[in-house]
Amino acid sequence: MSVSFKLSASLSGFSLQVLLLLSLTLAVGLAGLVVRHHRRLPLPPVFNQGLGQYPWTAYAKFSKTAGPLITIPALGRPIVVINTTKAASDLLERRSSFADRPRWPMAELLGRQDNVGFTYYGERLKKMRKELHAALSAGVLVGIWGALLDRESLHLCQALLNAKAPDAFYDSVENNLQQLIVQFTYGRSADLDYIRLAKLVMHQTGEALQPGRWSVNFLPALKYVPAWVPGAGFKRWAAEAKMSFYDMTRKPFYRCKEEVTPLPLVLHYISNDALAAGTETVSGTVLSFIAIMLRHPEVQERAYREIVSVVGTTRLPDLSDRRALPYVNAIIQEIHRFNPAVPLVTHGNSVEEEYEGMRIPKKTWVMGNVWAMLHDEEVYPEPDKFVPERFAPPDGAAAQPDPNGIVFGFGRRRCPGLHFANAYLYLVVARTLALFKLVPPDGDYQALPPIEFMLGLISSVFALFMLRAV
Ligand code: HEM
Repeated sequence: MSVSFKLSASLSGFSLQVLLLLSLTLAVGLAGLVVRHHRRLPLPPVFNQGLGQYPWTAYAKFSKTAGPLITIPALGRPIVVINTTKAASDLLERRSSFADRPRWPMAELLGRQDNVGFTYYGERLKKMRKELHAALSAGVLVGIWGALLDRESLHLCQALLNAKAPDAFYDSVENNLQQLIVQFTYGRSADLDYIRLAKLVMHQTGEALQPGRWSVNFLPALKYVPAWVPGAGFKRWAAEAKMSFYDMTRKPFYRCKEEVTPLPLVLHYISNDALAAGTETVSGTVLSFIAIMLRHPEVQERAYREIVSVVGTTRLPDLSDRRALPYVNAIIQEIHRFNPAVPLVTHGNSVEEEYEGMRIPKKTWVMGNVWAMLHDEEVYPEPDKFVPERFAPPDGAAAQPDPNGIVFGFGRRRCPGLHFANAYLYLVVARTLALFKLVPPDGDYQALPPIEFMLGLISSVFALFMLRAV
């Protein structure tokens, strides 16, 4: 009895050890298998077609047959484009590893990696975004920024009435936006020199980000080549650009800090972000609005009737009327959908990821194709038509999904300026439609050229702003 007990005890001890060993071996083996299997997972289908004028439309078309994710072969790391709302929600919204930004060595040489938009995901970014949310959340917006938004939207209406040539017209919109954002950031109007400097800095940032232009973006080690080495002209250019960047951000920041109140250094970078991220996106959306309204007099008339019925003709719409003007709001939603200001949004992933049997290697450039998602005919029937009624359907019918959930980006990197931008856009759209009828300069609707929406630039935007008789 005792022998058999000892035997079974030692057997069981042996078996336990063996079992443990076996299971460990199995676990390691399985893990190896999983890793090997993981390694063998393919990348998303490779995009192998011509880009045409607008890459986002080419990617959208290709993804219809290839699936939601596609790979663009690139030197160094692959680029993966996400083309559907579901995949963007599964990856960019739900998985925190996609909250990173790709490495952009040329932007780092220009000192830009300290800005919110370029910062890699981590504690520093969270702190910066917290400051931004405190200043820009929907709850505080009207109380803090209501008067500024009110004043600047009126200035823009005045400037549009006076603009007499297409150039003056573009400048009016851009200058208004720069004034708005500089006042939002530093609490004072910007002088012309400052505006010039800001434009130069934005232009230089655009150049640093140009795909394929700088070898250092593919070979990051080139960052460490001394500037005097022949062929290192990019380092000298970057050093100059970095100086303009510091002039633009540090001087007004320190002046503001001395004059007003102690400001945390983190705000210094945030201020530059607001200018860089806010100006082109909002001015592009305002220019889209004007170009589209010119070609849709029936939309202008319907919005005007709504404004008159709610607000009357003795005052202008203001932020307190916003909820009572559903058609005006629907116009803004449809502008965001029709021509999103940022058609491709770039994130990076901090660890290797897997999605529907495909592999997304660590540190891939992951681009959300916002344009494709907002032109998906399953979600937005006849996506190439401008139809604000999608978002304000008659007789309680269901509205199509709100583009605001996509056009401002995804997850932990979603645009912190969305409430500010939308409040300003509402005032500009409602007041422009209340005050003016937008007509072609020579009155000839047939002669209007098709609008071309290019990144950061919209062609054929020039309208006559005829004051409505009220
Ligand atoms: C129509 C107007 C605007 C549009 C369509 C827009 C859109 C976007 C998009 C798509 C992103 C990238 C989000 C992502 O990576 O997922 C972004 C980032 C950002 N936007 Fe906006 N934006 C607008 C206006 C503004 C304004 C007015 C401000 C500031 C007052 C602003 C500040 C920022 C900042 C700081 C970031 C970087 C956020 C981060 O990287 O964590 N934006 N915006």
